[in-house]
Amino acid sequence: MNHFYITTPIYYVNDKPHIGHAYTTILADVIARYRRQTGDHVFFLTGLDEHGQKVQHTAEKSDLTPKQHCDQMAPHFLNLWKQLQIKNDDFIRTTEPRHKVIVQQVLQAVYDAGDIYKGQYEGWYSVSEERFITDKERASGEFRDLQRISETNYYFRMEKYQGRLIEYIEQHPEFILPATRRNEILGKLREPIGDLCISRPKNRLSWGIDVPFDSDFVTYVWFDALLNYISVPGYGSDDRSFQKWWPADCHLIGKDILMTHAIYWPTMLFSAGIPLPKTIFAHGWWLSPKEDDKGLEKMSKSLGNVVNPLDLIDRFGVDSVRYYLMKEMVPGQDAYFSTESFLRRYNGELGNDLGNCIGRIHTLISRNFEGKLPDPSKGTESELDRDLRVAGEKLLTRVANAITELKVNEAIGQTMEYIKSINVYLARTEPWRLLKSEVQSDKDRAAMVLFISAEALRLGIQLLNPVMPQLVESLLPMVGDLCPDYTGISWGRLVPGTKLAPFVIPFPKIEG
Ligand code: ME8
Ligand code: MG
Repeated sequence: MNHFYITTPIYYVNDKPHIGHAYTTILADVIARYRRQTGDHVFFLTGLDEHGQKVQHTAEKSDLTPKQHCDQMAPHFLNLWKQLQIKNDDFIRTTEPRHKVIVQQVLQAVYDAGDIYKGQYEGWYSVSEERFITDKERASGEFRDLQRISETNYYFRMEKYQGRLIEYIEQHPEFILPATRRNEILGKLREPIGDLCISRPKNRLSWGIDVPFDSDFVTYVWFDALLNYISVPGYGSDDRSFQKWWPADCHLIGKDILMTHAIYWPTMLFSAGIPLPKTIFAHGWWLSPKEDDKGLEKMSKSLGNVVNPLDLIDRFGVDSVRYYLMKEMVPGQDAYFSTESFLRRYNGELGNDLGNCIGRIHTLISRNFEGKLPDPSKGTESELDRDLRVAGEKLLTRVANAITELKVNEAIGQTMEYIKSINVYLARTEPWRLLKSEVQSDKDRAAMVLFISAEALRLGIQLLNPVMPQLVESLLPMVGDLCPDYTGISWGRLVPGTKLAPFVIPFPKIEG
């Protein structure tokens, strides 16, 4: 059995999640569900990044201890994931002992290997990004919350691994995706990357994991957070489990945290002697209009321009929200959320293309075949029928390939095109006209056409299950699949004579 391990970033708990976080988590969930549907054994991990300066500051502002603050914030994430139908296999909070011991273990190993030294550092720190930035980055003006920091700390010999990292990236084109991001990292690696400050003196920041070899320091939050990807599947605690899941198949992230994942993380793994993850995929940003309405900027908590996913769920339903976010963004490119584009997809693609197709087939079967799937066996197969079946079979491969390439929007696009083609098939075969005829062979042919349409639609709907799991559960019985089997989807599941579940309009029209 194929094992597939996929992760999302673990999110900071300094504020509530917005559609950016929802996007990454849904994307991982959809890929995980597609994979499970094709028989893979999947491990899907998400969680929370609870240490660091940013969380400590936020807690201080509300007069809470950092831990109290984390405990208050965690339910917001857990509740959202539940509302969004996220089916993750584990959920890590970096304050959990199972994670902390592994961070200390890895730090000690890297220290023992001679890759950590003590030194003095002076530089600019971005609190919102939780990392030191270079003078060049500072000059770009893209970084907020800057602090000048000068102190003694521990350093990880990151630069020592620079050459090896370049070589690795060059030999593994699938390691950083999409290619634009890979080039961006190779560009950064053309200049010296320096060593990584991996500690914080407790007298400045106490909210973190103790450095095992010096109790005056806590671990830098990124060195801590990245290790969640290995601490959870069992590194240092459960070898069998770890062997099974590592290396991860895919770390899904946003492009904002590409550097930490594509430079810090692999060099840390090199030093610890652990294989690198197979793919780091960095998607683009959800943007919002700027305050002065001149252009767009990244949707972000600290800029206060966020869309709350819970509001969207209330208004449009969870399945449509998942569908919209997955279809609107081309993974890798930026996207812009707007109610207009939401309604266009909702009313057009879901309401018209999908909803009406189900309604049309359901009505014809209800009125003419007592609501039972008609018997196709007396008709003769035409070229149109064959084309629809062959296209359905090809669709299975196309969707699987798109998912392998992490192109979820394409997988959905292909499926929706197929569903539209069922509408075209009906327009060409005109079962409504055949049903009015007195000739028996016309009636037999209509039975066949409707059965085939239902089968094709069943296939299409089932392929949308990873995207709209809740709704699909209720749609399939409307086309005659009463006990759906989501593993091993193929053409030819429906049984003549099956009574269709009553039709309920799945996407009632919403006026802007
Ligand atoms: O960076 N568009 O956490 P974070 C798309 N704790 N995706 C967005 C987004 C937007 N406008 N805003 C956020 C951290 N995201 C660290 C990660 S991992 C070991 C530690 C998503 O709360 C996207 O996935 O700032 C982005 O990378 C992530 O949230 C950042 O979440
Ligand atoms: Mg961030």
